[in-house]
Amino acid sequence: MTYYIGLDLGTSATKLLLLGADGAILKSVTKAYPISRPQPHWSEQDPADWWNAAQDGIRDLLDGIDPAAVKGIGVGGQMHGLVMLDENDAVLRPAILWNDTRTGKQTDGLNHDFGKEKLHELTGNIAFAGFTAPKILWVRENEPDLFARCKKICLPKDYINYKLTGVFATDVSDASGTLYFDVEHRIWSKPMLDLLGIDESYLPAVFESGDAIGKTTLFGMDAAVVAGAGDNAAAAIGTDTVRTGQCNISLGTSGTVFLPTDHFVKTENPALHSFCHANGKWHLMGCILSAASCNQWLNETVLQSGYRLGRGDPKTQLYFMPYLSGERCPHNDADVKGAFLGLTHSTSREDLQQAVLEGVSFAIRDCIELCPDPVRAATVCGGGTKSDAWMEILSNVLGIELQIIDNEGPALGGALLAAGKSLAPQIKAVVRPDAALTALYDEKYKKYRALYPMVKDFYREQG
Ligand code: XUL
Repeated sequence: MTYYIGLDLGTSATKLLLLGADGAILKSVTKAYPISRPQPHWSEQDPADWWNAAQDGIRDLLDGIDPAAVKGIGVGGQMHGLVMLDENDAVLRPAILWNDTRTGKQTDGLNHDFGKEKLHELTGNIAFAGFTAPKILWVRENEPDLFARCKKICLPKDYINYKLTGVFATDVSDASGTLYFDVEHRIWSKPMLDLLGIDESYLPAVFESGDAIGKTTLFGMDAAVVAGAGDNAAAAIGTDTVRTGQCNISLGTSGTVFLPTDHFVKTENPALHSFCHANGKWHLMGCILSAASCNQWLNETVLQSGYRLGRGDPKTQLYFMPYLSGERCPHNDADVKGAFLGLTHSTSREDLQQAVLEGVSFAIRDCIELCPDPVRAATVCGGGTKSDAWMEILSNVLGIELQIIDNEGPALGGALLAAGKSLAPQIKAVVRPDAALTALYDEKYKKYRALYPMVKDFYREQG
């Protein structure tokens, strides 16, 4: 028997699976860890939690099989996170995550002082608060002593690969989200490194996602470890979203819209990211910072009712703005916050739940509206697919057919990168839009679109 391990280093948990050589998923396990939010808009995790979760998960997967039969491991990971190590490879501070928006000032500085045009030309993208470069500037300004001790900078999944192999490496898809990577040429951007005051020797060597970076002998394995990918590119491999014209929507803590491209695209609207794909090509991506995490917030934190997603009345004029961590696409606004608008004495718990699902779906539509060509159908993966109610709302809000994928995406993508294979996705349901509801949501979406311009200055003034 030959096996491959895929690992998805997510924001709420690490999910791992064991893949057989025939492409069958033989076992999967999830190991959760907390997010620390010491201040509003801050979001941090301890890399030791990731490494413990990875080791526990691998140990569980190996239970009952010969570890020597594992031939490859591939990791897909939450993107953009800043991990800093000192000269002894000790972690210097908690990792600052992709949905941490403390860097509004540094992001504005990059976009306005250095200039969006220049950034776009050097990296293919403009600055967003969650990208890695503004985080480096934040640490340099706010924690100079710690910054002076930093000798290595890497992304979350690269830390896991380093622990597995001792090789300091990254892949092109994840490196794309740093804003110090030249996406068109698939190399670090020297001018950006100069701007940030970091030497290239601090950074991992860059590989294509399916390239082996080294081996791991953990727990008796003798397995090649591939460079892996950012979680969205890994999910695209897992859902076989690799051709121009396809679209994959992922609904996890974040929500993303992923469009493969054959060539590097200099986006007309830089709210859409232009990144390397894990298959040697490129992709465009829109990302909202709070997707399934909005349901979790409402149901667990506020209503304390578990995950029971109610069906409210779509005709209710209740709107939810899902900006619980600020927003990335399309607004690029670290200050904006979430809101319900339209509450009355008759608003029910189900109406709130419905409004949250609608609000996140409208935010996904905001990303879809930026796409250069009309999106006519999409696959959907991630934890949000567990809610049938949400899949119907999303299909009606977007007015397109959705193919719901029966796996979480990134872990399978990691295992497939390690195996050097591709697989047709397992579709568990097809959801088609209802014309009357699509018309209703078109009207509601127009009103939703009008809300952000009304509130943005209010939050900006508060800082
Ligand atoms: C993508 C992004 C998120 C994280 C989530 O740009 O920030 O999708 O990768 O893990």
